[in-house]
Amino acid sequence: MQTQDRESVSDQTANELTVYETHVSDRGTAVITGATGGIGMVYADRLANRGYGLILIARRGDRLNAIAKRLRAEHKVDVQIIVADLSDAADLKNVGESIASDPRVTMLVNNAGTAKASPLAQTGNAALDAMIDVNVRALSHLSLAVLPRFQERNQGVLINIGSVLSFHSLPISSVYSGTKGYIMNFTRGLQDEVAGSRVIVQLVLPATTETDMWELAGLPLSKLDQGSIMSTEECVDAALAGLDQAETVTLPSVEDLQLWDNYDAARMRLFAASQIGRSASRYQVVKQRGIKVASPGRLESKRNNIRIPPSDPTGR
Ligand SMILES: NC(=O)c1ccc[n+]([C@@H]2O[C@H](COP(=O)([O-])OP(=O)(O)OC[C@H]3O[C@@H](n4cnc5c(N)ncnc54)[C@H](OP(=O)(O)O)[C@@H]3O)[C@@H](O)[C@H]2O)c1
Repeated sequence: MQTQDRESVSDQTANELTVYETHVSDRGTAVITGATGGIGMVYADRLANRGYGLILIARRGDRLNAIAKRLRAEHKVDVQIIVADLSDAADLKNVGESIASDPRVTMLVNNAGTAKASPLAQTGNAALDAMIDVNVRALSHLSLAVLPRFQERNQGVLINIGSVLSFHSLPISSVYSGTKGYIMNFTRGLQDEVAGSRVIVQLVLPATTETDMWELAGLPLSKLDQGSIMSTEECVDAALAGLDQAETVTLPSVEDLQLWDNYDAARMRLFAASQIGRSASRYQVVKQRGIKVASPGRLESKRNNIRIPPSDPTGR
């Protein structure tokens, strides 16, 4: 699924950068992974329109070149491309080093992703590895490539694209949902790491969006409830509006944000409730083993010592 029609660029590596100097942007440079189509390509268009220089990354060099050429002409911004397979360890290392050492980089959109819609038994190791390598490893390595620099400068924007499947699993999405669940927890943790600084970390959780990903995943959009499909432009425009409104978690298609607030508050309450240092009474372990139960006062003081991470419980 991941390598179809890509042989023509398979001998190019992340070292082979094509640089076209046209304009140095005041806003700095936005790195966008997975910019050859779908959500990443719309981010490229919108961020060029906002005046960012761009570094676009994906495997299909011909498409990257065509998109870069168009964006340079339309927006008069500097656009570099890096042809790289982010599931390849050497390419990922080269991309990471390249963006880590580039002082112009002020934003990273970790968008590249891959999916196979199938039960685990029909997924196969290659597709499973591709999802973990691109959705998890590459996103994490590239976050690590930029975030320490952003923190040093006390400035920068990291956008990680998760999914509504970050908090839900289907019988055909165990692996994909697993990778997207990782993105949610990873990104929420990073938000706590940068709390109090001017570094922004946004988690974007799109629902069904009209991109090639569905066909590539083996589940054509035509098979889905047509009313559940959002256009790619609308998804990215909502995500960027969320960024402008200082949302840390953006759910482009969810009208009632109280639903997220409730979910997030329940998550924190559940975590706090787990920190009592003994098994729950329904298991009767304490009774069976004759262990003395801690006094309610001691338990209370333990609860009070729980450190709740400084997430914004409103999710914004
Ligand atoms: N579409 C949806 O309904 C939906 C919903 C929620 C979240 N998302 C997430 O949104 C993000 C973008 O997906 P999309 O829907 O826009 O899908 P898409 O149209 O298939 O785009 C995926 C992008 O990722 C790149 N990519 C895939 N594997 C890569 C690899 N090994 N190395 C480098 N680049 C790679 C592709 O470029 P090349 O093929 O040229 O390498 C392409 O540019 C993903 O993280 C996806 O999980 C999508």
